[in-house]
Amino acid sequence: MKTWTREARYQRLEDVSTAEFAVLTQHVSNAPWRQHYHIQPPTGLLNDPNGFCWDGKQYHLFYQWFPLGAVHGLKYWRGLTSPDLVHFQDSGIAISPDSEYDSHGAYSGSALANPDGTLTIAYTGNHRTADWQRIPYQLTATYDPKHSSVTNKTVFMAGAPQGYTEHVRDPKIWRENGDLYAILGAQRDNHTGTALICKNGVLQGELKTNLPDFGYMWECPDFFPLNDKHVLIISPQGLLALEDGTQANLYQSGTLIGDYHTDTLSLSHGAFQELDYGFDFYAPQTCEGKNGERILIAWMGLPDTAYPSDKDDWQGCLTLPRVLTIEGDKLYQCPLEALKTLRQQRLNQIESLSIGELQLDNPTLAPFTLTLFKNKTHGTQLNFDGKRLTLDRSHSGELPYYTLADIPQGKNTTVRHLIISVSSLQIFIDHSSLEIFINNGEAVMTARIFAPDDANGITYHGEGKLEAWAFW
Ligand code: FRU
Repeated sequence: MKTWTREARYQRLEDVSTAEFAVLTQHVSNAPWRQHYHIQPPTGLLNDPNGFCWDGKQYHLFYQWFPLGAVHGLKYWRGLTSPDLVHFQDSGIAISPDSEYDSHGAYSGSALANPDGTLTIAYTGNHRTADWQRIPYQLTATYDPKHSSVTNKTVFMAGAPQGYTEHVRDPKIWRENGDLYAILGAQRDNHTGTALICKNGVLQGELKTNLPDFGYMWECPDFFPLNDKHVLIISPQGLLALEDGTQANLYQSGTLIGDYHTDTLSLSHGAFQELDYGFDFYAPQTCEGKNGERILIAWMGLPDTAYPSDKDDWQGCLTLPRVLTIEGDKLYQCPLEALKTLRQQRLNQIESLSIGELQLDNPTLAPFTLTLFKNKTHGTQLNFDGKRLTLDRSHSGELPYYTLADIPQGKNTTVRHLIISVSSLQIFIDHSSLEIFINNGEAVMTARIFAPDDANGITYHGEGKLEAWAFW
């Protein structure tokens, strides 16, 4: 496989010949494990969703993109538009890292629609000095969807504020009473993670929570009202794996639900709840959808992870959109209703399915074993023993692996456990992914699966009713 020197990682797409890039694009489009109904990069690496918003007529969604290979190199924003979050149109590059402030990457951020049809974007410019010191710049810019162009890149925070390291980034913006607010992920000088609040570009202070030290860095925060509560979403790094089998990914994404006191910037909240109990889920971003609902999309991947598709110069995709609601003290995530329009054909015999949806109703909470992506030698297993749901991808095919030299204890990479009473499952299968919604959104397990081509068999042992729809 290609070795990625620093120079190669920071090569600009604009400096690559059209012919060379066409060869790469052609190669990737014929590569194994390309998805059918998930957003994926045409070439190179996709990570966080960015700039997710509804402008009154259409959705805008962007993603972090390194075009030239499956590594975290020089990041661009690439965009899409959609009327319904089911069908998307690619709108090409939105932000190019072409200023001094974002010379080493147009990092993550968010967007809000303006009455004139443009978007206000806030993002982090990653700049490195000649001796490779990182300086984060927080920027706003104006995006014109008609021309997919960005103007007015303007710095509102240069460098890290006092008390914080170079890791300050990922502004998520909202408007309130005519003011523009932002929440940013940050690392304190003592190497603990936190989030900062800005008002009209001016730092107000840290968002105060009752969490103890909670990881060494918080990435991609999101903060919004839902019903009569406030929801904070963070992607903290450095959390320990727990004995019950949760927090077993290298990095987590999760939520705190509570009451926000604007005057003191404090959130009184309940326990941290992971947003996903599968393998590949990080850096989610939400927006207020066309019906006022709160919709979440995440990167179906993790940092510091190599994926089997890397050898073909592509990596990463986005999750399906999930609608958020609060029930009791829990955040529920249901697949967007409009996804039902993908259902093409209901299967009479459920023996195989490579692109589609499964629905299991198990009102008696009976144990079951469901095997997916199955051939003679491979299979991905979902097993419920009456108390605990286990997702096992040990024999699913080729596996992603963490690339860190020291992998923290308990960050198991092939089996996930969740203590839950399973009364229903709704499962979305694409060519190389699984999204499993448990009990109408009480919990979700997401996984990339890199199975052999002929591994599309399904077997089910258990009670309840299983239904399936093929999407194509
Ligand atoms: C999260 C993240 C962000 C950063 C971006 C760079 O995956 O590390 O914190 O802005 O990716 O691509």
